[in-house]
Amino acid sequence: MRRRNIQYLVLLFLCAVATHLYFFSSRDSESPHLDEWVEEDETEETIPKQRLDADPAKRDAIVAAFQYAWSAYERDAMGSDEYHPISHRGQNLSHSGGIGYTVVDALDTMLLMGLHDEYSRASDWVRNSLSFDRDGRTRCFNTFETTIRVLGGLLSALHLSADEMYLRHAVDLADRMLPAFDTPSGLPLSSVNLETRVGIPDPWNQDHISTAEATTLQLEFRDLAQLTKNATYWRKAETVMAVVHAARLPSNLAPISMNVKDGSFTFSDIRLGSRGDSYYEYLLKQYLQTDRTEPVYLKMYEGAMKGIHENLVHQTPIKKHTYIAELLPKGTEWRTTWEVQHKQDHLVCFLAGSLMLGATTAGARTPGAVSVPPNMSELTKIGQRDWNTGVELLEGCMATHQTATGLSPEIAQFKRSPDQPDRDWHIKGSKPGGPATYDARYMLRPETVESLFLAWRLTGRQRYRDYAWGIFQAIEKHCRLAEGGYATIVDVDTVPVRYDDKQETFFLSETLKYLFLTFADGRVLPLDEYVLNTEAHPLPVFRPSIQPMFTL
Ligand SMILES: *[C@@H]1O[C@H](CO)[C@@H](O)[C@H](O)[C@H]1NC(C)=O
Ligand SMILES: *[C@@H]1O[C@H](CO)[C@@H](O)[C@H](O)[C@H]1NC(C)=O
Ligand SMILES: *[C@@H]1O[C@H](CO)[C@@H](O)[C@H](O)[C@H]1NC(C)=O
Repeated sequence: MRRRNIQYLVLLFLCAVATHLYFFSSRDSESPHLDEWVEEDETEETIPKQRLDADPAKRDAIVAAFQYAWSAYERDAMGSDEYHPISHRGQNLSHSGGIGYTVVDALDTMLLMGLHDEYSRASDWVRNSLSFDRDGRTRCFNTFETTIRVLGGLLSALHLSADEMYLRHAVDLADRMLPAFDTPSGLPLSSVNLETRVGIPDPWNQDHISTAEATTLQLEFRDLAQLTKNATYWRKAETVMAVVHAARLPSNLAPISMNVKDGSFTFSDIRLGSRGDSYYEYLLKQYLQTDRTEPVYLKMYEGAMKGIHENLVHQTPIKKHTYIAELLPKGTEWRTTWEVQHKQDHLVCFLAGSLMLGATTAGARTPGAVSVPPNMSELTKIGQRDWNTGVELLEGCMATHQTATGLSPEIAQFKRSPDQPDRDWHIKGSKPGGPATYDARYMLRPETVESLFLAWRLTGRQRYRDYAWGIFQAIEKHCRLAEGGYATIVDVDTVPVRYDDKQETFFLSETLKYLFLTFADGRVLPLDEYVLNTEAHPLPVFRPSIQPMFTL
């Protein structure tokens, strides 16, 4: 889910140079029913779990949107990693051919939506054309992105279809990625060449890995270990968590950069946005994945949520919108001295649903016995705190959708807008109708709808479906292209919109899946049987057959 900004493109470019340096320096070492919809009564009653009924008309409108996005890709770019819907072309991450970035990422959404024809063509492509024998020397394969999208996509397709073909591909891919973990600390290198099976360090800083990238591989490698009964995959992922735990700061918050040689945190920001986000997400989900058998992740999660509440939770002065601030390190005492930045990436909105999920699991007095919606007496004090922050943060995230398009910007600043005194947040450097800034874009990201899905499942409150439907309608109105597909818009506050020529793969794997699940029957993917990886690929909860070694 959490991916980096424009720097990533530049970074890919620099990979070629870096690879050379590394080898020479370290060798020794549709929407048909929109009008039918009527506002429903906002009574917030308790709905038992089994009564989270589907809303078929809205659900089917979302399925039609998926078909519209997929069929454009299939027409213009089938088999390519990335899709440019305006120029009708595909692009691969390496010059030697694609690694199934879009196709594999979309498989499980098709299975969940019951799109048999699309699924059959996509799985034939995987069977007949997918290969990881790709030379990523000139454009590297990012360890984290490849894991969450491709490995995660193969594993969830396997679990939902029981087609063993996916397991063979998953093992092949993981084996090609393992060399990335061969570093002095055990933290992975940021990229890997899948053909030559060598890890490739960050081109700007040989010793650097972003914290979220190192700590967002675990659900996938652990699932593969459980499936194959091979502990190697488990240990690689688990070692990373032990290294991060050993490096922890007193606040239990994680700076966004680590050193792959010595395993320490390096001088860098603390944030729940890019490069930090899914570290926190995977603490909770690792605990849930193994059916709460590993208390070490519960302890790390609780420590981190305490640190967030003590240091990062803020409210805007007028409207009291809750947001999560960032911290900038100061001087030589940076580990203890920080400056608050009142700024929030769209990415941070994952945390609202994550806090609510955590409150009803890690924060439940009796696990497995929490009502829908939860009765506060069923939650611990910490569970109640997290639940309330999650609910409020989700409202704060919805406030960032109060734009000309109804879509939220990439980055919001929580200070009164000089131009719009009634809005106590703004987009830096951006004026409606002015030149678009990076911060003003909406790139079809899923984080708000992800949290709305979780909030719906955990409360049954119509309010959350209404919010999700509003966002879906805004996407239909502003991001849908007449000639097929959907595109990033460059400024959420300017109508008519201008586009960027990109349909991100996570629109198919995450945004439309979370919207679909919000209007589907509540028994589809029960939250006590699955964890969703950070790219929204569902993986089953299991009791580990491998003995965990990272324990308290
Ligand atoms: C990307 O690679 C795939 C698989 O090798 C191939 O089918 C497709 O044509 C390539 N796309 C481009 C734009 O080269
Ligand atoms: C486990 O996987 C690793 C990496 O592919 C491999 O080297 C090892 O032989 C496997 N072990 C077993 C018992 O299959
Ligand atoms: C919440 O739980 C308490 C204690 O079990 C109970 O007395 C109360 O009636 C419940 N409230 C609701 C709204 O269900």
